[in-house]
Amino acid sequence: EMDDDGFRDQASKAIVEFGKVRKNDPNLARFLALLGYVSIDAKGEGGWKELRKRMRDGMVHAFYFSVAPSLFGDLAERLHSHGIADVDSRIVVEKPFGRDLESARALNRILAQHFDEHQIYRIDHYLGKETVQNLMAVRFANILFEPLWNAQYVDHIQITVAETVDVGGRGGYYDKSGAMRDMVQNHLMQLLCLIAMEPPARFEPDSVRDEKLKVIRALDPVDYHHIVRGQYDADDDQPGYRAHVENPRSTTESFVAMKCHISNWRWAGTPFYLRTGKKLRARASEIAVVFKDAPHSIFGPEAGTHRNVLAIRLQPNEGMTLGVTIKEPGPGGMRLVDVPLDMSFAEALQNAASSTVGELRNAEQISAQALQGKADVRDVTDAVMNAQQNLQAAIAIRDKIVTAFLEISRMQI
Ligand code: BG6
Repeated sequence: EMDDDGFRDQASKAIVEFGKVRKNDPNLARFLALLGYVSIDAKGEGGWKELRKRMRDGMVHAFYFSVAPSLFGDLAERLHSHGIADVDSRIVVEKPFGRDLESARALNRILAQHFDEHQIYRIDHYLGKETVQNLMAVRFANILFEPLWNAQYVDHIQITVAETVDVGGRGGYYDKSGAMRDMVQNHLMQLLCLIAMEPPARFEPDSVRDEKLKVIRALDPVDYHHIVRGQYDADDDQPGYRAHVENPRSTTESFVAMKCHISNWRWAGTPFYLRTGKKLRARASEIAVVFKDAPHSIFGPEAGTHRNVLAIRLQPNEGMTLGVTIKEPGPGGMRLVDVPLDMSFAEALQNAASSTVGELRNAEQISAQALQGKADVRDVTDAVMNAQQNLQAAIAIRDKIVTAFLEISRMQI
């Protein structure tokens, strides 16, 4: 339970800490005056009349459902029955959008009873990240990489989203989802699509989503021998996964890694390794494009093998490193050594892309785009559900990877 002042206080502290805004900045006070807090009962009547009173007419309202999907229907219904939502309102929902294709369809039907398709924003907050949006620029605004961006030159690609946080406090939700549904089918899939897709003719939401869908359709079913899953254990004074989710027999994974193949002309033969987990040693989201060995070494076998690696760091320390091979200076002949061509966005852009600002932009962009009716942060599910006809692709998204995963999830962690 909280009141307006408590909420404003909490927001103020967060903005000062993460937004690098001064406490006495007059804009902060003006912004805080716009905030209010109403507690509502999603399944009952409590709080709704108060919420209605707070809504100002003539404004576009966006409702961000940051709650369990089982409550989406109740919320949508009450927003209407209390006259809070109107034809200009939008609702924003995040993953997991159902557990599988069938439950995603059921959820869709519930939302469609109360909102038109153009009012529903199924979003992926990763698409609001500056560094994720930057993947498009790196690939399609530079001529340097694209000619090499294919199976002929790329040995494999690794997509890693490693987190140090545990699931404490979100155990109820997380234990039903696991790393697979919490991270892979949404965030890692978006990264995979951005890295693997063909250039769209224009940078427009529909064209970009069409190209992403093609990648998903070309994904091979994942062989379950190519999936590894696990749970973090207790260490020292910290509880382990099962204690966090209060389920001593849980077999839900907090870590998953897998090898995927994309069967199309560009990528046939180049594996994509995806991995993500909670409570890992370091927080690091990174895409590593590992190029093939040079076809022939003029320096002979004693020079060893060397590979160029393009590492794109999404967070923290956003930037890119290209590993290049050079001659190790000094006498003694031609010894080769790998060195990094390193760029940090914060340094290159004078801090404009520092982590915290990036995180804020992330939330800002999503809210702003929903309010303005733009669609850059809509996820691929949205495209599929939007089109309502592309069931093959929907099956691909939800089930191609998850099917193999289900086989393995019956096995012991
Ligand atoms: C969320 C997941 O979608 O993304 C969380 O539910 C995860 O489990 C989070 O920690 C990661 O997002 P970010 O923006 O902190 O990298």
